[in-house]
Amino acid sequence: MNKYVCITGGTKGIGKAVAICLAQSGYSLLLTYGSDQASAEKTRQELEEGYDVKVLTLKADSTDRASIEVVGQFLEVNDILLDAMVFNAGITCRDPFEEMSLEEWERVFFANVHYPVFLLQRIVGRIRKGGSVVFTGSLMGVHPHSVSLVYGTTKSAVHALVRNLVKHLTPYDIRVNGVAPGFVDTEWQKTKPAEIRRNIENKISLNRFCEPGELAEVYKMLIENNYLNGEVIVVDGGYSYK
Ligand SMILES: NC(=O)c1ccc[n+]([C@@H]2O[C@H](COP(=O)([O-])OP(=O)(O)OC[C@H]3O[C@@H](n4cnc5c(N)ncnc54)[C@H](OP(=O)(O)O)[C@@H]3O)[C@@H](O)[C@H]2O)c1
Repeated sequence: MNKYVCITGGTKGIGKAVAICLAQSGYSLLLTYGSDQASAEKTRQELEEGYDVKVLTLKADSTDRASIEVVGQFLEVNDILLDAMVFNAGITCRDPFEEMSLEEWERVFFANVHYPVFLLQRIVGRIRKGGSVVFTGSLMGVHPHSVSLVYGTTKSAVHALVRNLVKHLTPYDIRVNGVAPGFVDTEWQKTKPAEIRRNIENKISLNRFCEPGELAEVYKMLIENNYLNGEVIVVDGGYSYK
């Protein structure tokens, strides 16, 4: 019987690193992505060539309500039961407070909070008993974000969701946890100017960004450890202690 994990935003960055880590342990994967089909296909090939697992990719834009049904139907049609569901895809908006529109605020809230809640509601019956759900939160859901009000607020909501969902997932025998990464060296961060990156590094005790692979092991532990439930694990290189 194939062990299966679905990772939203699983084709790049943190999601891809989690996918590699799980493929190494024999998990087959469903990786969703927003728009970049070429990268998704490259990731799929890389994983299937490197490991003895099945890897499926699916375009499912988390800003689009219709993609909830796309994922739900895909799991049903392919008769996939999941050992874990990783809600990792997230978006941001850096518009200043004074210029933030209600539409943008709602778009980010939808993608980061509403989408995982209602996708989970749609697919909860496709997660095996004893399985688990893992959310990607953020250190910026613990400390206020210096620029994006909506990003920090939605990530705080994600952390609250993890704790509030425990009660609702216990009847299904499903655990739920989260990871709150600090600054991880993915495309998301690589596009920042060198000076801003240096400022960030100067605030981290370990003086460097996290490698996606270093984070991936934490997701695997949350998926496999049967007693972790309702936790949000901060992985920030000692950001708070410098
Ligand atoms: N990097 C950090 O420092 C950091 C820190 C804390 C938390 N996080 C969180 O970690 C998660 C992943 O970030 P990352 O740094 O790994 O980003 P990334 O390297 O840019 O990768 C993003 C992944 O998410 C997908 N994605 C983007 N927009 C999407 C959408 N609207 N719908 C569905 N999928 C979408 C991308 O696919 P396409 O390219 O095809 O759209 C890609 O697979 C996010 O929730 C982010 O908030 C990141």
